[in-house]
Amino acid sequence: MRVNCTVNGAPAVADDVWEGESLLFVLRERLGLPGSKNACEQGECGSCTVYLDGVIVCACLVAAGQAEGRDVRTVEGIASGGALDSVQQAFVDAGAVQCGFCTPGLIVAADDLLRRVPLPADPEVREALAGNLCRCTGYEKILDAVRLAAARRSGMAAAPGGDGATGRNDAHGGDAAPGGEPGRPGR
Ligand code: FES
Ligand code: FES
Repeated sequence: MRVNCTVNGAPAVADDVWEGESLLFVLRERLGLPGSKNACEQGECGSCTVYLDGVIVCACLVAAGQAEGRDVRTVEGIASGGALDSVQQAFVDAGAVQCGFCTPGLIVAADDLLRRVPLPADPEVREALAGNLCRCTGYEKILDAVRLAAARRSGMAAAPGGDGATGRNDAHGGDAAPGGEPGRPGR
């Protein structure tokens, strides 16, 4: 079958799509967008997180046909004009990228959080990123990156790891996974 949708602001067409094919496969293998990663293919790791009509989903759990006529935005679409977005730059600056496999999904999830909650407290960050697993960083650098991106987007100065400059009501720092169960609805 043919799938027509909008990807990162431009019309996209994928031909010869199998009925059981995922949106993730279409993005990576048919549309040349390898930013969204394929790790578990079971909706458990969040590495394939993309926006679908403005709501984040696990692209591995979305049938390609469900994207027909809809708007998809991937980590490639977070950047604009060839420059990294503030969230992407914050992950680099905070040292939150090691192997990088989790990074695209985390960036999309963090971008979604900061659009909804410009200056989130740490528990809100942890909850928002609960569906995104990282096996390298121990999560602290990821939290630093989100704090930094939040501060920069809000026009406030903050150094990676700095708690005081953002004006947030942080409850704790912590060193475990950023949240509980990966229970993001619809992902
Ligand atoms: S590849 Fe792991 S949630 Fe999609
Ligand atoms: S940086 Fe390797 S899984 Fe997160």
